Amino acid sequence: MEKTYNWAVLGCGHIAKKFSNDLKLLPNANLYAAASRNLQKAKGFAGEFGYEKAYGSYEEMVNDPKVDVVYVATPHSHHREHALLCLENQKAVLCEKAFAMNRNEASEIIAVAQKNNTFLMEAFWTMFQPSFKKAMEIIKSGELGKLKTVRSDFAFNGVFDPQKRLYNVNLGGGSLLDIGIYPVFAALTSLGKPEIIKTFADFASTGSEESISMIFKYKNGQMASLTSSFASFSPTQTEYWCENGYLVLNPKWFVPTNITVWKKGEEPVNYPSEHKEGFGYQYEAAHVMDCLDAGKIESDRMPWQMSLDLMETLDRVRIDAGIFFPGHDKNLFF
Ligand SMILES: NC(=O)c1ccc[n+]([C@@H]2O[C@H](COP(=O)([O-])OP(=O)(O)OC[C@H]3O[C@@H](n4cnc5c(N)ncnc54)[C@H](OP(=O)(O)O)[C@@H]3O)[C@@H](O)[C@H]2O)c1
Repeated sequence: MEKTYNWAVLGCGHIAKKFSNDLKLLPNANLYAAASRNLQKAKGFAGEFGYEKAYGSYEEMVNDPKVDVVYVATPHSHHREHALLCLENQKAVLCEKAFAMNRNEASEIIAVAQKNNTFLMEAFWTMFQPSFKKAMEIIKSGELGKLKTVRSDFAFNGVFDPQKRLYNVNLGGGSLLDIGIYPVFAALTSLGKPEIIKTFADFASTGSEESISMIFKYKNGQMASLTSSFASFSPTQTEYWCENGYLVLNPKWFVPTNITVWKKGEEPVNYPSEHKEGFGYQYEAAHVMDCLDAGKIESDRMPWQMSLDLMETLDRVRIDAGIFFPGHDKNLFF
């Protein structure tokens, strides 16, 4: 019989709510514990989503022997601290993106997972979306010819609040780690790590980056043109330009969506989304439980090396663009 896993959320913020709604769709997931720095908040969250337990500190939650797997849903600046707290207590971890503040922090988290023989995966949900998987199959099959250019954007007009995580450099604020990471992911998953990175960034009054444009250049002439911003809305679309045609992951490309494929001399073909219910967080959560069923501590779909490559590339982008995070940059890779 399929094992049921007791899930806990660490941090009862915005994304923990959406994730919890999707977790309910999985028969082998039990919504077990909600942990917040504030007990009343934890109780309210647990009541709203049907978690059995509410904890007023993250430490209490990781000391509960019944917790199997923790979804770390705190700001980027705290992923290292909170992932380590779970892993040192042998709790499997699904940690939100960006995985850490830089590559060195990511590497440290992975080393602790290895030391404790405990499952760890970055919650890069796009990797598990049926539409993204389909797009990768088409691109990698070569039916459109060689991939030459990736163009990807992710922007929304964010509310300016100097204290909250989007514009607060102490919390890893700026569009890059929050949403720019998606276009970077689109480039890495199709083209790999770039040889050269050039960027332009614009900054808010808090010193946090608000908009960024990135060009990646590869040795064989391939390129990626990537943008993110909190200052405007964008279609949130990813295009793969190939020698014999193109593929578009239509808006919003990072969630379950439909795909358009055009081949030279033919009419465009639309592949409708296969997604039926929920926001799309259930796919990554289901994968985590498949890994746990198989006794794995690392996912083969979202392996640690992908998280390291993402963080390393973000480090390189940050250095080119002059994006710094006080208290975290002594560990910057380059
Ligand atoms: N995959 C996606 O689609 C997606 C979408 C949005 C965000 N995210 C990611 O999810 C993470 C959280 O984002 P969010 O939008 O949910 O943020 P949020 O609404 O600000 O919630 C973050 C939670 O972290 C906890 N926290 C712990 N230490 C904190 C501190 N020093 N300052 C502020 N909060 C602290 C708080 O929970 P308690 O008060 O309960 O302790 C807070 O509610 C980020 O890594 C973000 O990139 C992913």
